[in-house]
Amino acid sequence: MQATAAVRPSHVPPELVGGFNLMDDPSMLPQPLGDPHTAIARLLDGPPVFYSLNMTRNGEGAWIVVRAEDQRRVLQDGATFSSNRNIFSSALGENWPLIPLEIDPPEHGKWRSLLNPLLSPRRVVNLEPIVRQRAIDLIEGIKAKGTSCEAMSEFAFPFAVSIFLQFLGIGHERLHEFVGWANDLLHGTPAQRTEAAKIVVAYLDDLQALRRREPADDFMTFVTQAEIDGRRMTEHEVKSMSVLLFIAGLDTVAAAIGFDLLYLARHQAEQELLRAEPNRILLAAEEMLRAFPTVTPIRRATRDVEVAGVLIKAGDLIACPSMTANRDPAEFTNPEKIDFAREDNRHVAFAYGPHRCLGSHLARREVVIGLEEWLGRIPTFRFKEGHLPTVYGGFVFGVEDLVLAWD
Ligand code: HEM
Repeated sequence: MQATAAVRPSHVPPELVGGFNLMDDPSMLPQPLGDPHTAIARLLDGPPVFYSLNMTRNGEGAWIVVRAEDQRRVLQDGATFSSNRNIFSSALGENWPLIPLEIDPPEHGKWRSLLNPLLSPRRVVNLEPIVRQRAIDLIEGIKAKGTSCEAMSEFAFPFAVSIFLQFLGIGHERLHEFVGWANDLLHGTPAQRTEAAKIVVAYLDDLQALRRREPADDFMTFVTQAEIDGRRMTEHEVKSMSVLLFIAGLDTVAAAIGFDLLYLARHQAEQELLRAEPNRILLAAEEMLRAFPTVTPIRRATRDVEVAGVLIKAGDLIACPSMTANRDPAEFTNPEKIDFAREDNRHVAFAYGPHRCLGSHLARREVVIGLEEWLGRIPTFRFKEGHLPTVYGGFVFGVEDLVLAWD
């Protein structure tokens, strides 16, 4: 879509227009050892709600809700703050919602009830041996090649993709192909994104047809046989759900692992602590999810509504960056301090309310197991000389060029 000039809507008072936006604020752009988390947390020193011009790819503005308490109110109320945006399908020139992310309550609740058991803590425990084996295989492959690697492309990203393949019942031999499509889909040019989206959708359509003919013990079979409102799900609904599961757990998991390895490469004492006492990894991973969250949920107001004293009009977009909520001093003592022993860590890296991350149990296990195996198998690591990782902000924060070395 063509970007249009950023214009202040007439109902937005000029004094509520802020200079920051998630798309091209200098602090959000890729830079070596950038720190977009600290940059965006500075918004906590300003007004609780402000309007940011040019917040989307097509140049639309959005309200940014800074504080945790106000964000919870927005994210909890799916009737007033709709998540129906058809972002993925519009890139294909189509118009359908991702299920359940872009479905609003009360309809949304039916889909969640259907899907929750599939990613419940108990189901995730069953997946753990395979998650661990995938981490081990990738790390041992890296070790066999030498004493350095680019941790995102050689470990974090393929690890996340391989768990998705396992979950959907797709053979591991397709890993490289899927990693390529996923990369194009999430990081490519607009043309590459559209092309990759078409390929992935066609692949998932074929898989769906196969599982209707030949059921197996996997997610795709489950959804082709599941009933909603006393009927089978349509082919279209199955497609929409599997596409979401594909995109939801790739960059998010990879970035979580990437930010953790980056932090540990810079903080060797903490790296050694976790290596020596791996039972601390669970709390440490949770603290790093708080300190380095990646996602900014976006909603659209369905009616005129006030948030923190500001009038938001029906149709306006609202952004709730998890990065400001997770560093809100009203919620966390010493929010800037990364404290591996922090308890009662009620962060919102997985959002809040009805759309709270469906894959959070799996995501947590992926991150923790990934760190356990990495720290257990790779000796003290640091940035390779002459290489600094690139960190970027935006709607999903991330890390690139994380070249690590060890002796
Ligand atoms: C560290 C990794 C992850 C993070 C930080 C994360 C974060 C989030 C966030 C913030 C949302 C809410 C978005 C919104 O309200 O607009 C969300 C929703 C969702 N996530 Fe995750 N996610 C992660 C991993 C995963 C994984 C591994 C899966 C699947 C296996 C997954 C599946 C989903 C689904 C299906 C939704 C939509 C839930 C709904 O609409 O009811 N996520 N995630």
